[in-house]
Amino acid sequence: MTNDLIVERFDTSVATESDFAAYHAVLAASQAVDRPGEPPLPLGELVARMRRPLPGMGAVAYWVARFDDEVVAFAEVNFLDEENSDIGLTDVRVHPAHRRRGIGVVILRALLPELKLQGLGVVEGWEVAEGTAGQAWAEALGFRPVRTIARQVLVVAEADRALWEVDVPDGYRLSQWVGSAPAGVVDSYAVARGAIHDAPLGESEYRWPEWTASRVRAYEAELQSQGLVQRVAAAIHETSGAVAGFTELCVHPRRPDWGYQRDTAVLASHRGNDLGRCLKAHMTRWVLADCPELDRISTTTGAENVHMIRVNRAVGYTTLPSLIAVQQELSSVEAMLGRRVEV
Ligand SMILES: CC(C)(COP(=O)(O)OP(=O)(O)OC[C@H]1O[C@@H](n2cnc3c(N)ncnc32)[C@H](O)[C@@H]1OP(=O)(O)O)[C@@H](O)C(=O)NCCC(=O)NCCS
Repeated sequence: MTNDLIVERFDTSVATESDFAAYHAVLAASQAVDRPGEPPLPLGELVARMRRPLPGMGAVAYWVARFDDEVVAFAEVNFLDEENSDIGLTDVRVHPAHRRRGIGVVILRALLPELKLQGLGVVEGWEVAEGTAGQAWAEALGFRPVRTIARQVLVVAEADRALWEVDVPDGYRLSQWVGSAPAGVVDSYAVARGAIHDAPLGESEYRWPEWTASRVRAYEAELQSQGLVQRVAAAIHETSGAVAGFTELCVHPRRPDWGYQRDTAVLASHRGNDLGRCLKAHMTRWVLADCPELDRISTTTGAENVHMIRVNRAVGYTTLPSLIAVQQELSSVEAMLGRRVEV
């Protein structure tokens, strides 16, 4: 059957509405099986993100597999940059009606030359839902689990708003801004952003950014250029005037019902003072006051990050099934697929 399968690059600059719709149909069907109860990205949002990947994800390439002119699978690779330029972040999806026919292997094989051309060393996948076909497939192909990613969501209508009333701990005051850190705090904010390095990454090759004030500015500019509205709430240590911790949340006007929690971190010397809960509670009140259409805020963290998970629960987040990050050296993926006989 895979003899009749055509795998080709999907070029977002020439793709038509119906090309995107066919791609989206695979995503929606896969999601219904692999993550039941979780709505897939709306078509318009998928198209916008395919044309312009979210900040921090590097350049991207897409492939589709067609059988009898029907799109039955897709693959996408983010070529991460900076600290992570060795990693090809890869997602393969096969329509549930076409699984176990070798299509996943064929499309993965088709993208390897591009990974090699880009000089990548490692293939990682972060979208494998625990206990699904994706996990069995990845294991069968020699990928090893390197990280369990806990997912949590705050469903605004179901949350207890009393959980967002949290006093600011003694010795601190809160500061907040939209889009651009005030010049007076940007240096210490960059230092506080560095505290994210203590968040566990399992055995993933991924490395957190090395934050500096200029990198903060570049990141802010990148978010703005994409139209993302970034809100930051920061705890300022009153004695030193420095940022002790922060939380960051983005909303896109394209999708006003959805909030994307990004980093939250408290410097080690300020931990244990309830700053994390205070910052998250404050952020929730603030963003809901400004964005009344918001009905969900989603977040992910390493499954072993018990403190962050507990803070999120304390402000009303509930838990979704985890994702598994898998990894393999590119050379081993090539060797493994070279040994597999095509069906
Ligand atoms: C994972 C996925 C891409 C596999 O696609 P597929 O075309 O069905 O996979 P293949 O036919 O190429 O499977 C290759 C091998 O993987 C293993 N495998 C695949 N699905 C499996 C399952 N449900 N149970 C057990 N083993 C499985 C088998 O060893 C299979 O070889 P075999 O059929 O000769 O026994 C598909 O299930 C999917 O889209 N899942 C959702 C997204 C996802 O998790 N993607 C992977 C992360 S990047």
